[in-house]
Formats: sequence, C-alpha cells, structure tokens
Amino acid sequence: MKAFTSTPTLLAIESSCDETSAAVIRDGKILSNIIASQKVHHEYGGVVPELASRAHEQNIVPVVASALKAANIDKNNLDGIAFTRGPGLLGALLVGTSFAKSLALGLDIPLVEVHHIQAHILSHFIDEPKPNLPFLCLTVSGGHTQLVLVDEKMEMRTLGQTLDDAAGEAFDKTAKMLGLPYPGGPLVDKYAQLGNEKAYIFPASNIEGLNFSFSGFKTSVLYFLQKNIKENPNFISENLHDICASIQFRIVKTLTDKVEKAVLQTGVKEVALAGGVAANLGLRKALADLATKKKWNLYIPKFEYCTDNAAMIAIAGHFKYLKKEFAEQNIAPLARMNF
Ligand code: KG4
Ligand code: ZN
Repeated sequence: MKAFTSTPTLLAIESSCDETSAAVIRDGKILSNIIASQKVHHEYGGVVPELASRAHEQNIVPVVASALKAANIDKNNLDGIAFTRGPGLLGALLVGTSFAKSLALGLDIPLVEVHHIQAHILSHFIDEPKPNLPFLCLTVSGGHTQLVLVDEKMEMRTLGQTLDDAAGEAFDKTAKMLGLPYPGGPLVDKYAQLGNEKAYIFPASNIEGLNFSFSGFKTSVLYFLQKNIKENPNFISENLHDICASIQFRIVKTLTDKVEKAVLQTGVKEVALAGGVAANLGLRKALADLATKKKWNLYIPKFEYCTDNAAMIAIAGHFKYLKKEFAEQNIAPLARMNF
C-alpha cells in the first residue's frame, strides 16, 4: 500500500442520485470538479432509479478522466480515493462504489468512504469564509431537509429533519401541479420574483420541535388549485407569478422559522446553508435579512458546491484521510445511513 502522506492528492466520486461527479483535491485544495447531470429524468417528472444507474455506468469513466485531466494529475500520483457510500439510490451508489474500489485496488491506495450529507455540510470548508465551530447547518435539497449542529468537522448532531417530503420536493411537486417541467424549483423561484407573496396564504405546518413536514402544505396547494380552477379554468396561467410567490413564501418561512428556533435553542449564531435549494433567492434573502437583524454570521457556498458534486466528497475525504479512517475492500453502499 502507498505510504501515508499529510498532503494527500485524492480522487473523489459522487453517484448517489442523478449527478455523476468526480473531483481532485490536493492538500485540501480543489483542483477540479466535473459534474455530469442526467437530463434523461426530465421527461418522467422525477429521478428514475434504474435510468440513473445506467447513466452513471456510461458517465463514470469519462467523468473521472476529465477530472484528472482538468487537475493535471496522473492517476499514478493519487494517494487515495474517496467515494459516496450513502445515503442515496442503491443502484446509483453501487456504480461509484464499485468503480472507487476497483481503482483503489488497482493503484494499491487507500479507500475513504464518505457520508453524502456530511459532505454537503463540509462543503463549507472548501472556500473562504469558513464557518467557526460550532455552527448550525440547514441542508435543503431534492432528497434532504435537515438541521444539523456541527460541533467538530466530523462530529455532527441532527437536530431536526423532514418527516415526509424534502424542501426541494415540496418545490418540485407543487411546481408540477402548476404544469411546470421537472425540476420545477428554479422556475417557481424565477416566477416568484415577479409575484406578490401575500396574494394567497397557505397554512403553516404545526410540527413541534425542529422537525419539518411538507405533506400538509402540498395537499393545501392541491385543494386550493382544484377549487380555483373549478371557478376559472385559466386560474393558474392568469395568476402564476402570485401563486409561485405565495408557495415560495410558505416553504421559505417553514425553513427559516426552524432555523430561528434552532439558534435560540443552541445559542449558536454561526448559520450555514447547503443543498440545491440554497440557490433559492427567496431563501437566501430571508436568511440574509434574519442574519442582519439577529446578528448571525451566514455562510452559503458557491452554487457549484451546493448541488450534488464530488468536490464536497473530496473535502470530506481529505479530513477522513488525515485521520487515517480508511475503508476495507469489502465495503458496500447503503441507501440509508446515519452519521
Ligand atoms: O442538491 P440537489 O442538486 O440534488 C439533490 O440532492 O436533490 O438539489 C436539487 C433540488 C431540486 O428539488 C430543485 O428543484 C431544487 O434543488 N432547486 C431549487 C432551486 N434550485 C434548485 N428550489 C428552489 N429554488 C431554486 N432556485
Ligand atoms: Zn445531496
């Protein structure tokens, strides 16, 4: 096995959902981050697991080759390989895991397993400014909605999570009700900028503590639309901007209320945002306003590191490599996985 180094060059692989991504990191600095997004799912209105696995299988070799080329690193100069073990779609994870294991075996270098959500959170350590420990992180994407207290880089506690849909799903599924193409989140955001967020009031969920729920909200949007379309078949097209603004307002308020509560409970005023929904302008503005008002420090990584990407797997892998937390060759991916 190649000797341990305190300034490792690692290849990282992410394949948990519908993005095939590879990144190279040297001594904690990202040298490349290549992401191949799978368009094949759009016509189905959501990610189709079987198609995701097949697309990963097609993409993985060229994506890794591009990442090594963009970083100007020869595979023989790698000191280790980090990969997403879970949580995610099992068939998708299998492609990245098998590839990482084979390459590590062939090159006789260590293998480092990474938890996908931990990696989203650790993406805050890629660029400056980095949050001070401890910090609170709200991770919001199509697959996750979690509030985590980060005590140390690898010591995290989940304070709350969604009991049903993720925040991104709440955007995408309500967008689908409006006839918008998948993924509808970015379109709701775009139209919301042009509408009145107080035009329609959707009820707040009354989940206690720091957990989230979006299923009641989804149903209320559905009933609201059915009722209004009955009275006016053109209701959606005539009021699209106001409906999007009102939907976005409710989702954002649900998220920011819990962040506020978590700050009060923990006394931690370092607040970070991760995941694809971090792109949402309404959420960014609401958190920025709260941060100014309540004197929090707010951290939002650049967009490339918010959505699924291998750079976040690379930084998490870097920290684990330095702690010599290596995986065995018989490791298997996990669809569900705790910290
Ligand atoms: O992190 P991500 O790329 O993949 C997952 O792990 O799910 O997040 C994708 C999710 C989708 O639900 C998408 O609609 C949502 O993030 N999203 C947005 C915006 N940009 C992406 N939702 C609301 N507003 C946006 N601007
Ligand atoms: Zn993710």
